[in-house]
Amino acid sequence: MIHMLRVEIDPVSPSPEVIAHAARLLRSGRLVAFPTETVYGLGANAIDASAVERIYAAKGRPAYNPLIVHVVDHAAARHLARVWPEQADALIAAFWPGPLTLVLPKRPLVPDAVTAGLPSVAVRMPAHPVARALLAAAEIPIAAPSANRSMLLSPTTGEHVERSLGASVDLILDAGPTPVGIESTVLDLSSPEPTLLRPGTITLAEIESVIGPIVNAERRRSGETSPRRSPGMLDRHYAPRGRLLLATTSDLPLVVLGEAATARSVGVLLIHAHTDAAHVVQMPNDPLAYASKLYGALHALDDAGCDVIVVERVPDDPEWLAVRDRLSRAAS
Ligand code: TXA
Ligand code: MG
Repeated sequence: MIHMLRVEIDPVSPSPEVIAHAARLLRSGRLVAFPTETVYGLGANAIDASAVERIYAAKGRPAYNPLIVHVVDHAAARHLARVWPEQADALIAAFWPGPLTLVLPKRPLVPDAVTAGLPSVAVRMPAHPVARALLAAAEIPIAAPSANRSMLLSPTTGEHVERSLGASVDLILDAGPTPVGIESTVLDLSSPEPTLLRPGTITLAEIESVIGPIVNAERRRSGETSPRRSPGMLDRHYAPRGRLLLATTSDLPLVVLGEAATARSVGVLLIHAHTDAAHVVQMPNDPLAYASKLYGALHALDDAGCDVIVVERVPDDPEWLAVRDRLSRAAS
């Protein structure tokens, strides 16, 4: 069993033997892909710089894009941070374990390879039982970006990881689909103004209800007044292989018709619209349920060979911010 690349593991009560094996691999500098509640992560020992370098090589990730460090508990997070702002305690009490990543000033023990040379480190305590068991058994912080080739779609199943990274990983813990489905919210607490760097299912409003007003880096960026603070937030990202187009509910049928004239195969993600196309996926009219299905649906359309994917625009409301963000990056 254990010599296989991808091993199935129960998402609720993971086998201690398999977890122990994965933990040993991590402690000896190898790469283990594992499920979190958001997406699968490609893990390495965060305090071993050469193990961390392997993550960049396996993903083809540019060296300027820093990684998130996963920790088993609050104390392990504090161990990595040089300064611990008051807001961090309140946010952790409200949202950990869960899909909220905090960027904090780093201690010297965090290698530059993890932070891409930045003076700050991104940390989160995941909620998935497999991730938690792995962190507890390994007794080290685990650096883990999403377990996909750089610039492509994040993986929400073990098969996605295997297809994207294959044998460049030492072990894939396959616990089936991840429940949240899109990457964590990233909040920068390393400077006086708390700043949202990446929207996620923990919303701006939920964060503000705990620590008061925060800055949305995306909104500020469009005002051209400050540099982008998250080097990983390249515009094109989280993208399927096929070309992705966004269309309003009323325009969608015509856009699909137009594309069908030249495309090999058109895929469609819709909520309300009606259309005929080779591959139509009905998406839920709820932001959390939509996020949970999004990457799985895009992977499926990629796998079906769609060279064009037309996506019905989602509502403009704040609760849909994270889904809009991923869709507009995939379309750009
Ligand atoms: O849900 C998630 O966050 C998943 C799971 C595996 O935990 N991980 C994930 O990692 O999405 P990745 O590497 O695909 O995205 C990490 C993001 C990037 O946008 C990166 O630029 C940002 O976090 N980041 C990491 N360290 C940072 C730092 N010190 N300052 C600013 N941004 C940072
Ligand atoms: Mg990623």
